[in-house]
Amino acid sequence: MKPFENLTGAEKEALYKSLREEFDRVCGKKLKLNMARGKPGKEQLDLVSGILTALTKPEDCECDGIDARNYGNLSGLPAAKRLFAEILDCKPEQCFMGGSSSLQLMYDLVAKAWTHGLLHSPQPWCREPKVKWLCPAPGYDRHFAVSKSFGMEMIPVPMTPQGPDMDLVEELVKDPTVKGIWCVPKFSNPQGFVYSEQTIARLAGLKPAAPDFTLIWDNAYCVHEVYGEYLPFPDILSLCAEAGNPDMVYEFASTSKITFPGAGISVMAASEANQSYLQSLLTFQIISYNKVNQLRHVRFLKDKAHTLEIMKQHAEVLRPKFDCVLDTLEREIAPLGLASWEKPKGGYFVSVNTLPGLAKRTLELCAQAGVTMTAAGATYPYGKDPADSNIRIAPSYPGLEELAQAIEIFCLCLKLAALEK
Ligand SMILES: Cc1ncc(COP(=O)(O)O)c(C=O)c1O
Repeated sequence: MKPFENLTGAEKEALYKSLREEFDRVCGKKLKLNMARGKPGKEQLDLVSGILTALTKPEDCECDGIDARNYGNLSGLPAAKRLFAEILDCKPEQCFMGGSSSLQLMYDLVAKAWTHGLLHSPQPWCREPKVKWLCPAPGYDRHFAVSKSFGMEMIPVPMTPQGPDMDLVEELVKDPTVKGIWCVPKFSNPQGFVYSEQTIARLAGLKPAAPDFTLIWDNAYCVHEVYGEYLPFPDILSLCAEAGNPDMVYEFASTSKITFPGAGISVMAASEANQSYLQSLLTFQIISYNKVNQLRHVRFLKDKAHTLEIMKQHAEVLRPKFDCVLDTLEREIAPLGLASWEKPKGGYFVSVNTLPGLAKRTLELCAQAGVTMTAAGATYPYGKDPADSNIRIAPSYPGLEELAQAIEIFCLCLKLAALEK
């Protein structure tokens, strides 16, 4: 097929007619396909279901002299901290083990900044006339939703394959009302970009005007390679400390895409000074998170090497799905010049950039044809994609057959949207 821009008017009309007929046929099938959320598929959940029997007897529940079944140890089981410290390459004392969601820990950090202020805050953020937040975009919709729910002014920062545009970030943090930035440094959501060493060093060495500027380092995909070997990643906590910013960074991770999303464990790693301050507030909120589940994870995941083995098994399941999406886009869309996309080495998404003005309409057509996708614009602050171009594809949840059908329909809808235009 020729690039659409080289087609004559008559060729475009004929093509539109035949694609529209195909679209009507697809709609008639009343399909219900979903490429919206980054969730592991059933096969992945099955392969980690050994965790269900990781603790079976009362004697199994003791670890380091602590009975995991009882109250106590606000910051979590030492063994769980050791496990995550090894995964993140930080120190166990820097780890706070949370419940089943890292997003909840992130929200809670912002909420604490709001109500009480952080370690170096002159006052709680609720008393600040304005709080601005840097939002590398396209990015994770739920990060932006947290900022929005607190009424922050979100400032989009363009993403590059090396990470956020650092010239702009360095300029923006000179404003004392800019209080923080969302970062997904490894296999970013949605592009799968890995921040370069230089970007990471520049972030660690930022000189923000706000004394309580907060680098939220959401390392959600820290061990989530899909193609190739494990990519070692620098410890942001020590880099920030070396750069004179020991208390600027809070790193998050969870087992949501290692074991069970919504039933795993999470971690917030931060300087010991931050831990001590935050735990002095957390103590009013909870006596201890679910240590039985922490211990189940320790027993099942064992250590970093074994966790990486499990992640290889996940990758075996995910790779054919990513291949399916990428191959179909290459075959159906690349020759037409309607979009470009990233080829991620890990993470959970494929990020497609259509020609300007096509994303919303493409997804409208997908919805009519029974394919649910993340809403257009969701990857931008306020849901506003200035070019109406970015679409996030999540290939992990559907079975391969269903996925193949869904991505074919997506390509059909993109072609129709382009021809309509
Ligand atoms: C970047 C990122 N952070 C956090 C989460 C949610 O993690 P959790 O289940 O630990 O709350 C996701 C889930 O998709 C994500 O993509």
